[in-house]
Amino acid sequence: MGSLSPLDPLFTPLRLGSLSLAHRIIQAPCTRMRSTPDPSAPGVWVPNDLNVTYYAQRASKGGLMLTEATPISRDAAGYPGVPGIFTPSQIAGWKKVTDAVHAKGGIILCQLWHVGRATTPGMLGGKTPLAPSDIPMSGNALDGTVYADAPPKAMSVEEIKGTVEEYAAAAKRAMEAGFDGVEIHGGNGYLLDQFLHDNVNTRTDSYGGSIENRARIVLEIIHAVTQAIGPDRVGIRLSPYNYFQDTRDSNPQKHWGYLCSQIAALPESARPAYVHMIEPRFDEVLDESEKIDALETTQEVVKPSLDGFRNVLKKGGVSFIAAGNFKAENAGEKISSDGADAVAFGRLFISNPDLPRRLQEGLAVNAYDRATFYGASPPERGYTDYPFAA
Ligand code: PHB
Repeated sequence: MGSLSPLDPLFTPLRLGSLSLAHRIIQAPCTRMRSTPDPSAPGVWVPNDLNVTYYAQRASKGGLMLTEATPISRDAAGYPGVPGIFTPSQIAGWKKVTDAVHAKGGIILCQLWHVGRATTPGMLGGKTPLAPSDIPMSGNALDGTVYADAPPKAMSVEEIKGTVEEYAAAAKRAMEAGFDGVEIHGGNGYLLDQFLHDNVNTRTDSYGGSIENRARIVLEIIHAVTQAIGPDRVGIRLSPYNYFQDTRDSNPQKHWGYLCSQIAALPESARPAYVHMIEPRFDEVLDESEKIDALETTQEVVKPSLDGFRNVLKKGGVSFIAAGNFKAENAGEKISSDGADAVAFGRLFISNPDLPRRLQEGLAVNAYDRATFYGASPPERGYTDYPFAA
């Protein structure tokens, strides 16, 4: 018997709805931009053999993996090289990924994504991006477009209803592709987070104004997706303290507290298995201390924390995954203190294909190379060439 390690809490089984996890180290969703363009369809990227290798390398027995954020439709996409889940070619490509993960005993969910205003007409075959309101983001897109020069269109109620249906249809296609379920992407300043944040959503109809209205589309999508594929294989990712993509909510604790209480109160037949949240300290651009300082000076947040959300959800029987700047030093404690049921790792899973084993055996971890996160030449570099431990 080995001695007790602070990481031991990560290595106990966990039931998430219908999913039986052997350990609590989850691969976080990470955009990697290494898929293949479909020659017959502009704007369509398809999972390829290199993508299969990448996911298969990171699969572990009873380990849960989340795919990179995956556009649910042609109109939902924001970046090149990102595989969607809306064409037969993509379903076939993903099927190879899910088969390879299952062959190693892994569990994999497809993260369903709509970027909302975080895109450009150039990415959408000339169409105007859709968002809750017509407020553009600041800055430039990857293709050089100044977002303010191509502002989004505020969605009609019909377009909102259509998008809800698209999520359900994408969830069904994910099941066809062999996924074990789906995670609804409700964070990081993309479409659903744009609806939730009160600095982005300025609608005056039943999808804007109060938090009850801003959360409506999210609850409708949870309902549609859980009815499409069953509730016990559905999760949702949220980022209440997000700043990325120009989101700044006036009261995250109150507003996401409302959303969590609604999720917790759903009947079992429509209640997702888990909520996955990003720690307030995490930011896509700022480092940890800058983010905490910014939260403390600009928002009415006494102490930014996920604990209140976790507690409300736990009472409703909804499991909780936490993500954002976890490492060997702080991950076990998150579980032993009951702050979460499982912990997701993004950057460390990028650089360590065998991360669960390294944490279990106390092995050193490979450092990550940020310059290769979003593509590299050749594409293997910083993707499938990180070494396994000896
Ligand atoms: C990104 O591509 O930078 C990205 C995508 C999805 C996220 C966050 C960041 O949720």
